[in-house]
Amino acid sequence: MGKFRIRGGRRLEGSIRVIGSKNAFLPILAAVILTRKPVVLYDFPRLADVENMLLILLSIGCRIKRENSTLYIDPSDCSSWVIPDKYVKEIRSSIVMLGAVLARMKKAVITYPGGCEIGQRPINLHLQGLKQLGVVINESHGYLECEAANMEGADIHLDYPSVGATENIMLAATRAKGRTVIRNAAKEPEITDLQNFINSMGGRVAGAGSNTITIDGVETFHETEYTVIPDRIVAGTYLVSAAITGSEIVVENVCLEHIQAIVTKLRETGRMITPCKGAPVESVRIKAPQHLWAIDHTKTHPYPGFPTDMQALLMSALTVSKGTSIITENIFENRFKHVPELIRMGARIRTEGKIAVIQGVPRLKGAAVAAGDLRGGAALVMAGLNAEGETIIDNIRHIERGYDKLEECLRSIGADIEKLESD
Ligand code: UD1
Repeated sequence: MGKFRIRGGRRLEGSIRVIGSKNAFLPILAAVILTRKPVVLYDFPRLADVENMLLILLSIGCRIKRENSTLYIDPSDCSSWVIPDKYVKEIRSSIVMLGAVLARMKKAVITYPGGCEIGQRPINLHLQGLKQLGVVINESHGYLECEAANMEGADIHLDYPSVGATENIMLAATRAKGRTVIRNAAKEPEITDLQNFINSMGGRVAGAGSNTITIDGVETFHETEYTVIPDRIVAGTYLVSAAITGSEIVVENVCLEHIQAIVTKLRETGRMITPCKGAPVESVRIKAPQHLWAIDHTKTHPYPGFPTDMQALLMSALTVSKGTSIITENIFENRFKHVPELIRMGARIRTEGKIAVIQGVPRLKGAAVAAGDLRGGAALVMAGLNAEGETIIDNIRHIERGYDKLEECLRSIGADIEKLESD
């Protein structure tokens, strides 16, 4: 397990390119097995979570070849319906394999994924939706044994617009007989990307991006080539890196619409972000002011609200913003693990339940801290870029789940950060 060593206080400059979206790529990898024909995926993000998903595909019979950032997947011989425990335990989002395996194999066995660092993360909505499609689910000894011999389209109303449940139901419904309607569906851009990918193979999905998604079951899918959307949280991370160091950088390969909520919030800390519309990719220039201003109140919400995945990152910037800021975390119950670590670095934060009150200080101070989860870990990196002296961040395997060589990317724009291999 490695660590990051950061010497804070460096101004950043130059351009940095955002990788393909992790949260779009994972369900798309699951969707690959809907077809028996070859699939080519461009701009794939080289992340621990993605590698894990590839291991699942290999274990159920897919053949995979990589060339630079292109993946060639041949799912023609994919025949196992048992998703190995070790990968499901490693990466919780592998639960989306369930819908895809049911669509392809009409049965599936998967271990119950359980909680994770940021909360309990139940899957009741996934299972309720699948049951409405006619899937018979037996839960025993921590396993879900599912039979989907006669899946039929259904009208499904989600109690909450869960991203994973929407994806799982969409995937299973692609092979159900007739029409499925998902109401109160999640509207995240990653759902729209999944729809576009499924349709690029001949699927008939419509409405993603709105709260009602319609899926007409089809018999067969064909080959496809696809490029995933840019990662909006990685884009937000780079914007915060500039904001917290008073720097000017250009963040390339973003979708402006997807990062609207993030840009709007960061603008409240100081007018500093200019979008550069361009084809085929858009970019944003951020010119941070000398001092950031506190933000009255930020609440995390499902898309298009402010994303929970940016909560810790925004908080790192607010620790050095003039005045008092409040953040309410509405999505996950255990998503303030970065707070004690930021406090070690001199931040003044109090939390009560799902509310955090942040009193800005002029500058953070380097300390030895540890990442407790992916985005909280990235927030500590941001804090380290600002801090006086040296910051050592332990447990960076959490960070590597969602960032491809973050240290190299930040170094390319002038940060003093290196990875130390642990003994
Ligand atoms: C996805 C993202 C994650 C992001 C989250 C919210 C991926 C791989 N991960 O996670 O980065 O933080 O969306 O934007 O795309 N819930 C239930 N029952 C369920 C499902 C969810 O109660 O069956 C609850 C969860 O506990 C949580 C809330 O709904 O409180 C949101 O979860 P959900 O939208 O499902 O998030 P994920 O798909 O797990």
